[in-house]
Amino acid sequence: MPLCIFRFGVLATEGFLMASNLVSITRRGLGETARKDLWWAQPLITFIVFGSFVVYSTWAAFQGVHYLFTGGGAHYLSPFYSPELLGSATAWFGPKPGWIPTWIPFTAALLVLWAPGGFRFTCYYYRGAYYKAFWADPPACAVGEPRSSYRGERKFPLILQNVHRYFLYLALLFLIILAYDAIEGMFFMGVDGRRHFGIGVGTLVLVVNVILLSSYTFGCHSLRHLVGGRCDQLSDKPIQQTAWKCVNKFNRRHMLLAWLSLFWVAFSDIYVRLCSMGVLADYRIF
Ligand code: FES
Repeated sequence: MPLCIFRFGVLATEGFLMASNLVSITRRGLGETARKDLWWAQPLITFIVFGSFVVYSTWAAFQGVHYLFTGGGAHYLSPFYSPELLGSATAWFGPKPGWIPTWIPFTAALLVLWAPGGFRFTCYYYRGAYYKAFWADPPACAVGEPRSSYRGERKFPLILQNVHRYFLYLALLFLIILAYDAIEGMFFMGVDGRRHFGIGVGTLVLVVNVILLSSYTFGCHSLRHLVGGRCDQLSDKPIQQTAWKCVNKFNRRHMLLAWLSLFWVAFSDIYVRLCSMGVLADYRIF
């Protein structure tokens, strides 16, 4: 069914040819396209990788065990469980309070994971990626989509995605906490009962985790707006301009950093978990 017709008319004046072209656009059904490339590969990979991450992180958050490795005097805390607010003797506010009913699922991760999770789920890049991968809306550029109207993110429920800027503030706070955890991972309890500086493979895992998460967060579009998008002229504000340029540098790699940081934060949890379970031995470099 022709949807609309564009008419390009060039009115002729003396000595010029009159040209008139009619182009009709046909609405395509779901998945219909004239594209010949592997347009479906990227949404499929996103579905598999992002879906796997969601399944694994949900499973890990409900475990409540093997999130802290203290073997060999180390102190490696899984980023999924940081900050450990409640749930053990070493938590900020001590063990799980007795008034919480036993039938309510409770782990330290369930108390905090909503914040970094919310930040990632409302990320501008991820939104574009999982809208395509999980509900094919649209499946890809120039590929038929499942509905005929477009509401964008101006109506409920997708308008809630605008909360992203507030998740950003929380994410910045989490970076400080994760950096502290990485520093904690640099000190090992000695036989003399004192903590000594050292580096293990787990230390490097936690440090790389903070670097990647910071690089991802510093490229956030909301941060870009926060540091430079609110004023008309940056040239007379050198500090703000420098900050804006820095954020731009990270922003250009936002997609890559989104995936690298996603992979590494899951890997960090797996590493700590396997060490704690005794499956892996943490190698102490010095
Ligand atoms: Fe991706 Fe903010 S836009 S983290």
